[in-house]
Amino acid sequence: MLEIIKPRRSIRHFLRKPVPPEVLSSLLEAIQWAPSGGNRQPWLVVVVQKPTNIEKIKMFAPGLSGDPTALLVLCSDRSAKGSTFIMDISMAAQNVLLVATENGLGSCVIRSFNQAAIQSLLQLPSHVMPELLISLGYPAGSVEPPKRRAIEEFVHWERYGGHPDE
Ligand SMILES: Cc1cc2nc3c(=O)[nH]c(=O)nc-3n(C[C@H](O)[C@H](O)[C@H](O)COP(=O)(O)O)c2cc1C
Repeated sequence: MLEIIKPRRSIRHFLRKPVPPEVLSSLLEAIQWAPSGGNRQPWLVVVVQKPTNIEKIKMFAPGLSGDPTALLVLCSDRSAKGSTFIMDISMAAQNVLLVATENGLGSCVIRSFNQAAIQSLLQLPSHVMPELLISLGYPAGSVEPPKRRAIEEFVHWERYGGHPDE
């Protein structure tokens, strides 16, 4: 898994080549099998592939870069019980990113967008809130990995500030 996790990059430049339907199906399956609080699965996905519709979304999504060939709009069902929907959607999103990487697709999670505008554009009912966009497409070139914090910087053993050899 680390061989998929580590090379995954946020990709913001894409080739025109479309996402094959069987790969798209795998991405949707990755959402289906994501863990969720109480197994509530409070997600709903809008798949957007028509270039004119992607362009419309881009108007309300300053965080969306490049010209992806597909967009997944991951939404939460706010009428579902429980308060874990943000975590649930995030779990589903990470599954998508990893399966996309495994299939040679570039992807990027986007939170910088106008939720109300996208809700209205996609004709979502009021209890369905768009939480994350995932742009998808074959990468046009490679991207250097952004720096990561050292593991020792964020891991504590047994207690805050604890060391492994204590
Ligand atoms: C919750 C979340 C929101 C993000 N929103 C955006 C965004 O609006 N636009 C964007 O270009 N990238 C966005 N990103 C991607 C991050 O910038 C990226 O994951 C980070 O810089 C690390 O790079 P990497 O994904 O290549 O490892 C977001 C990532 C996460 C997890």
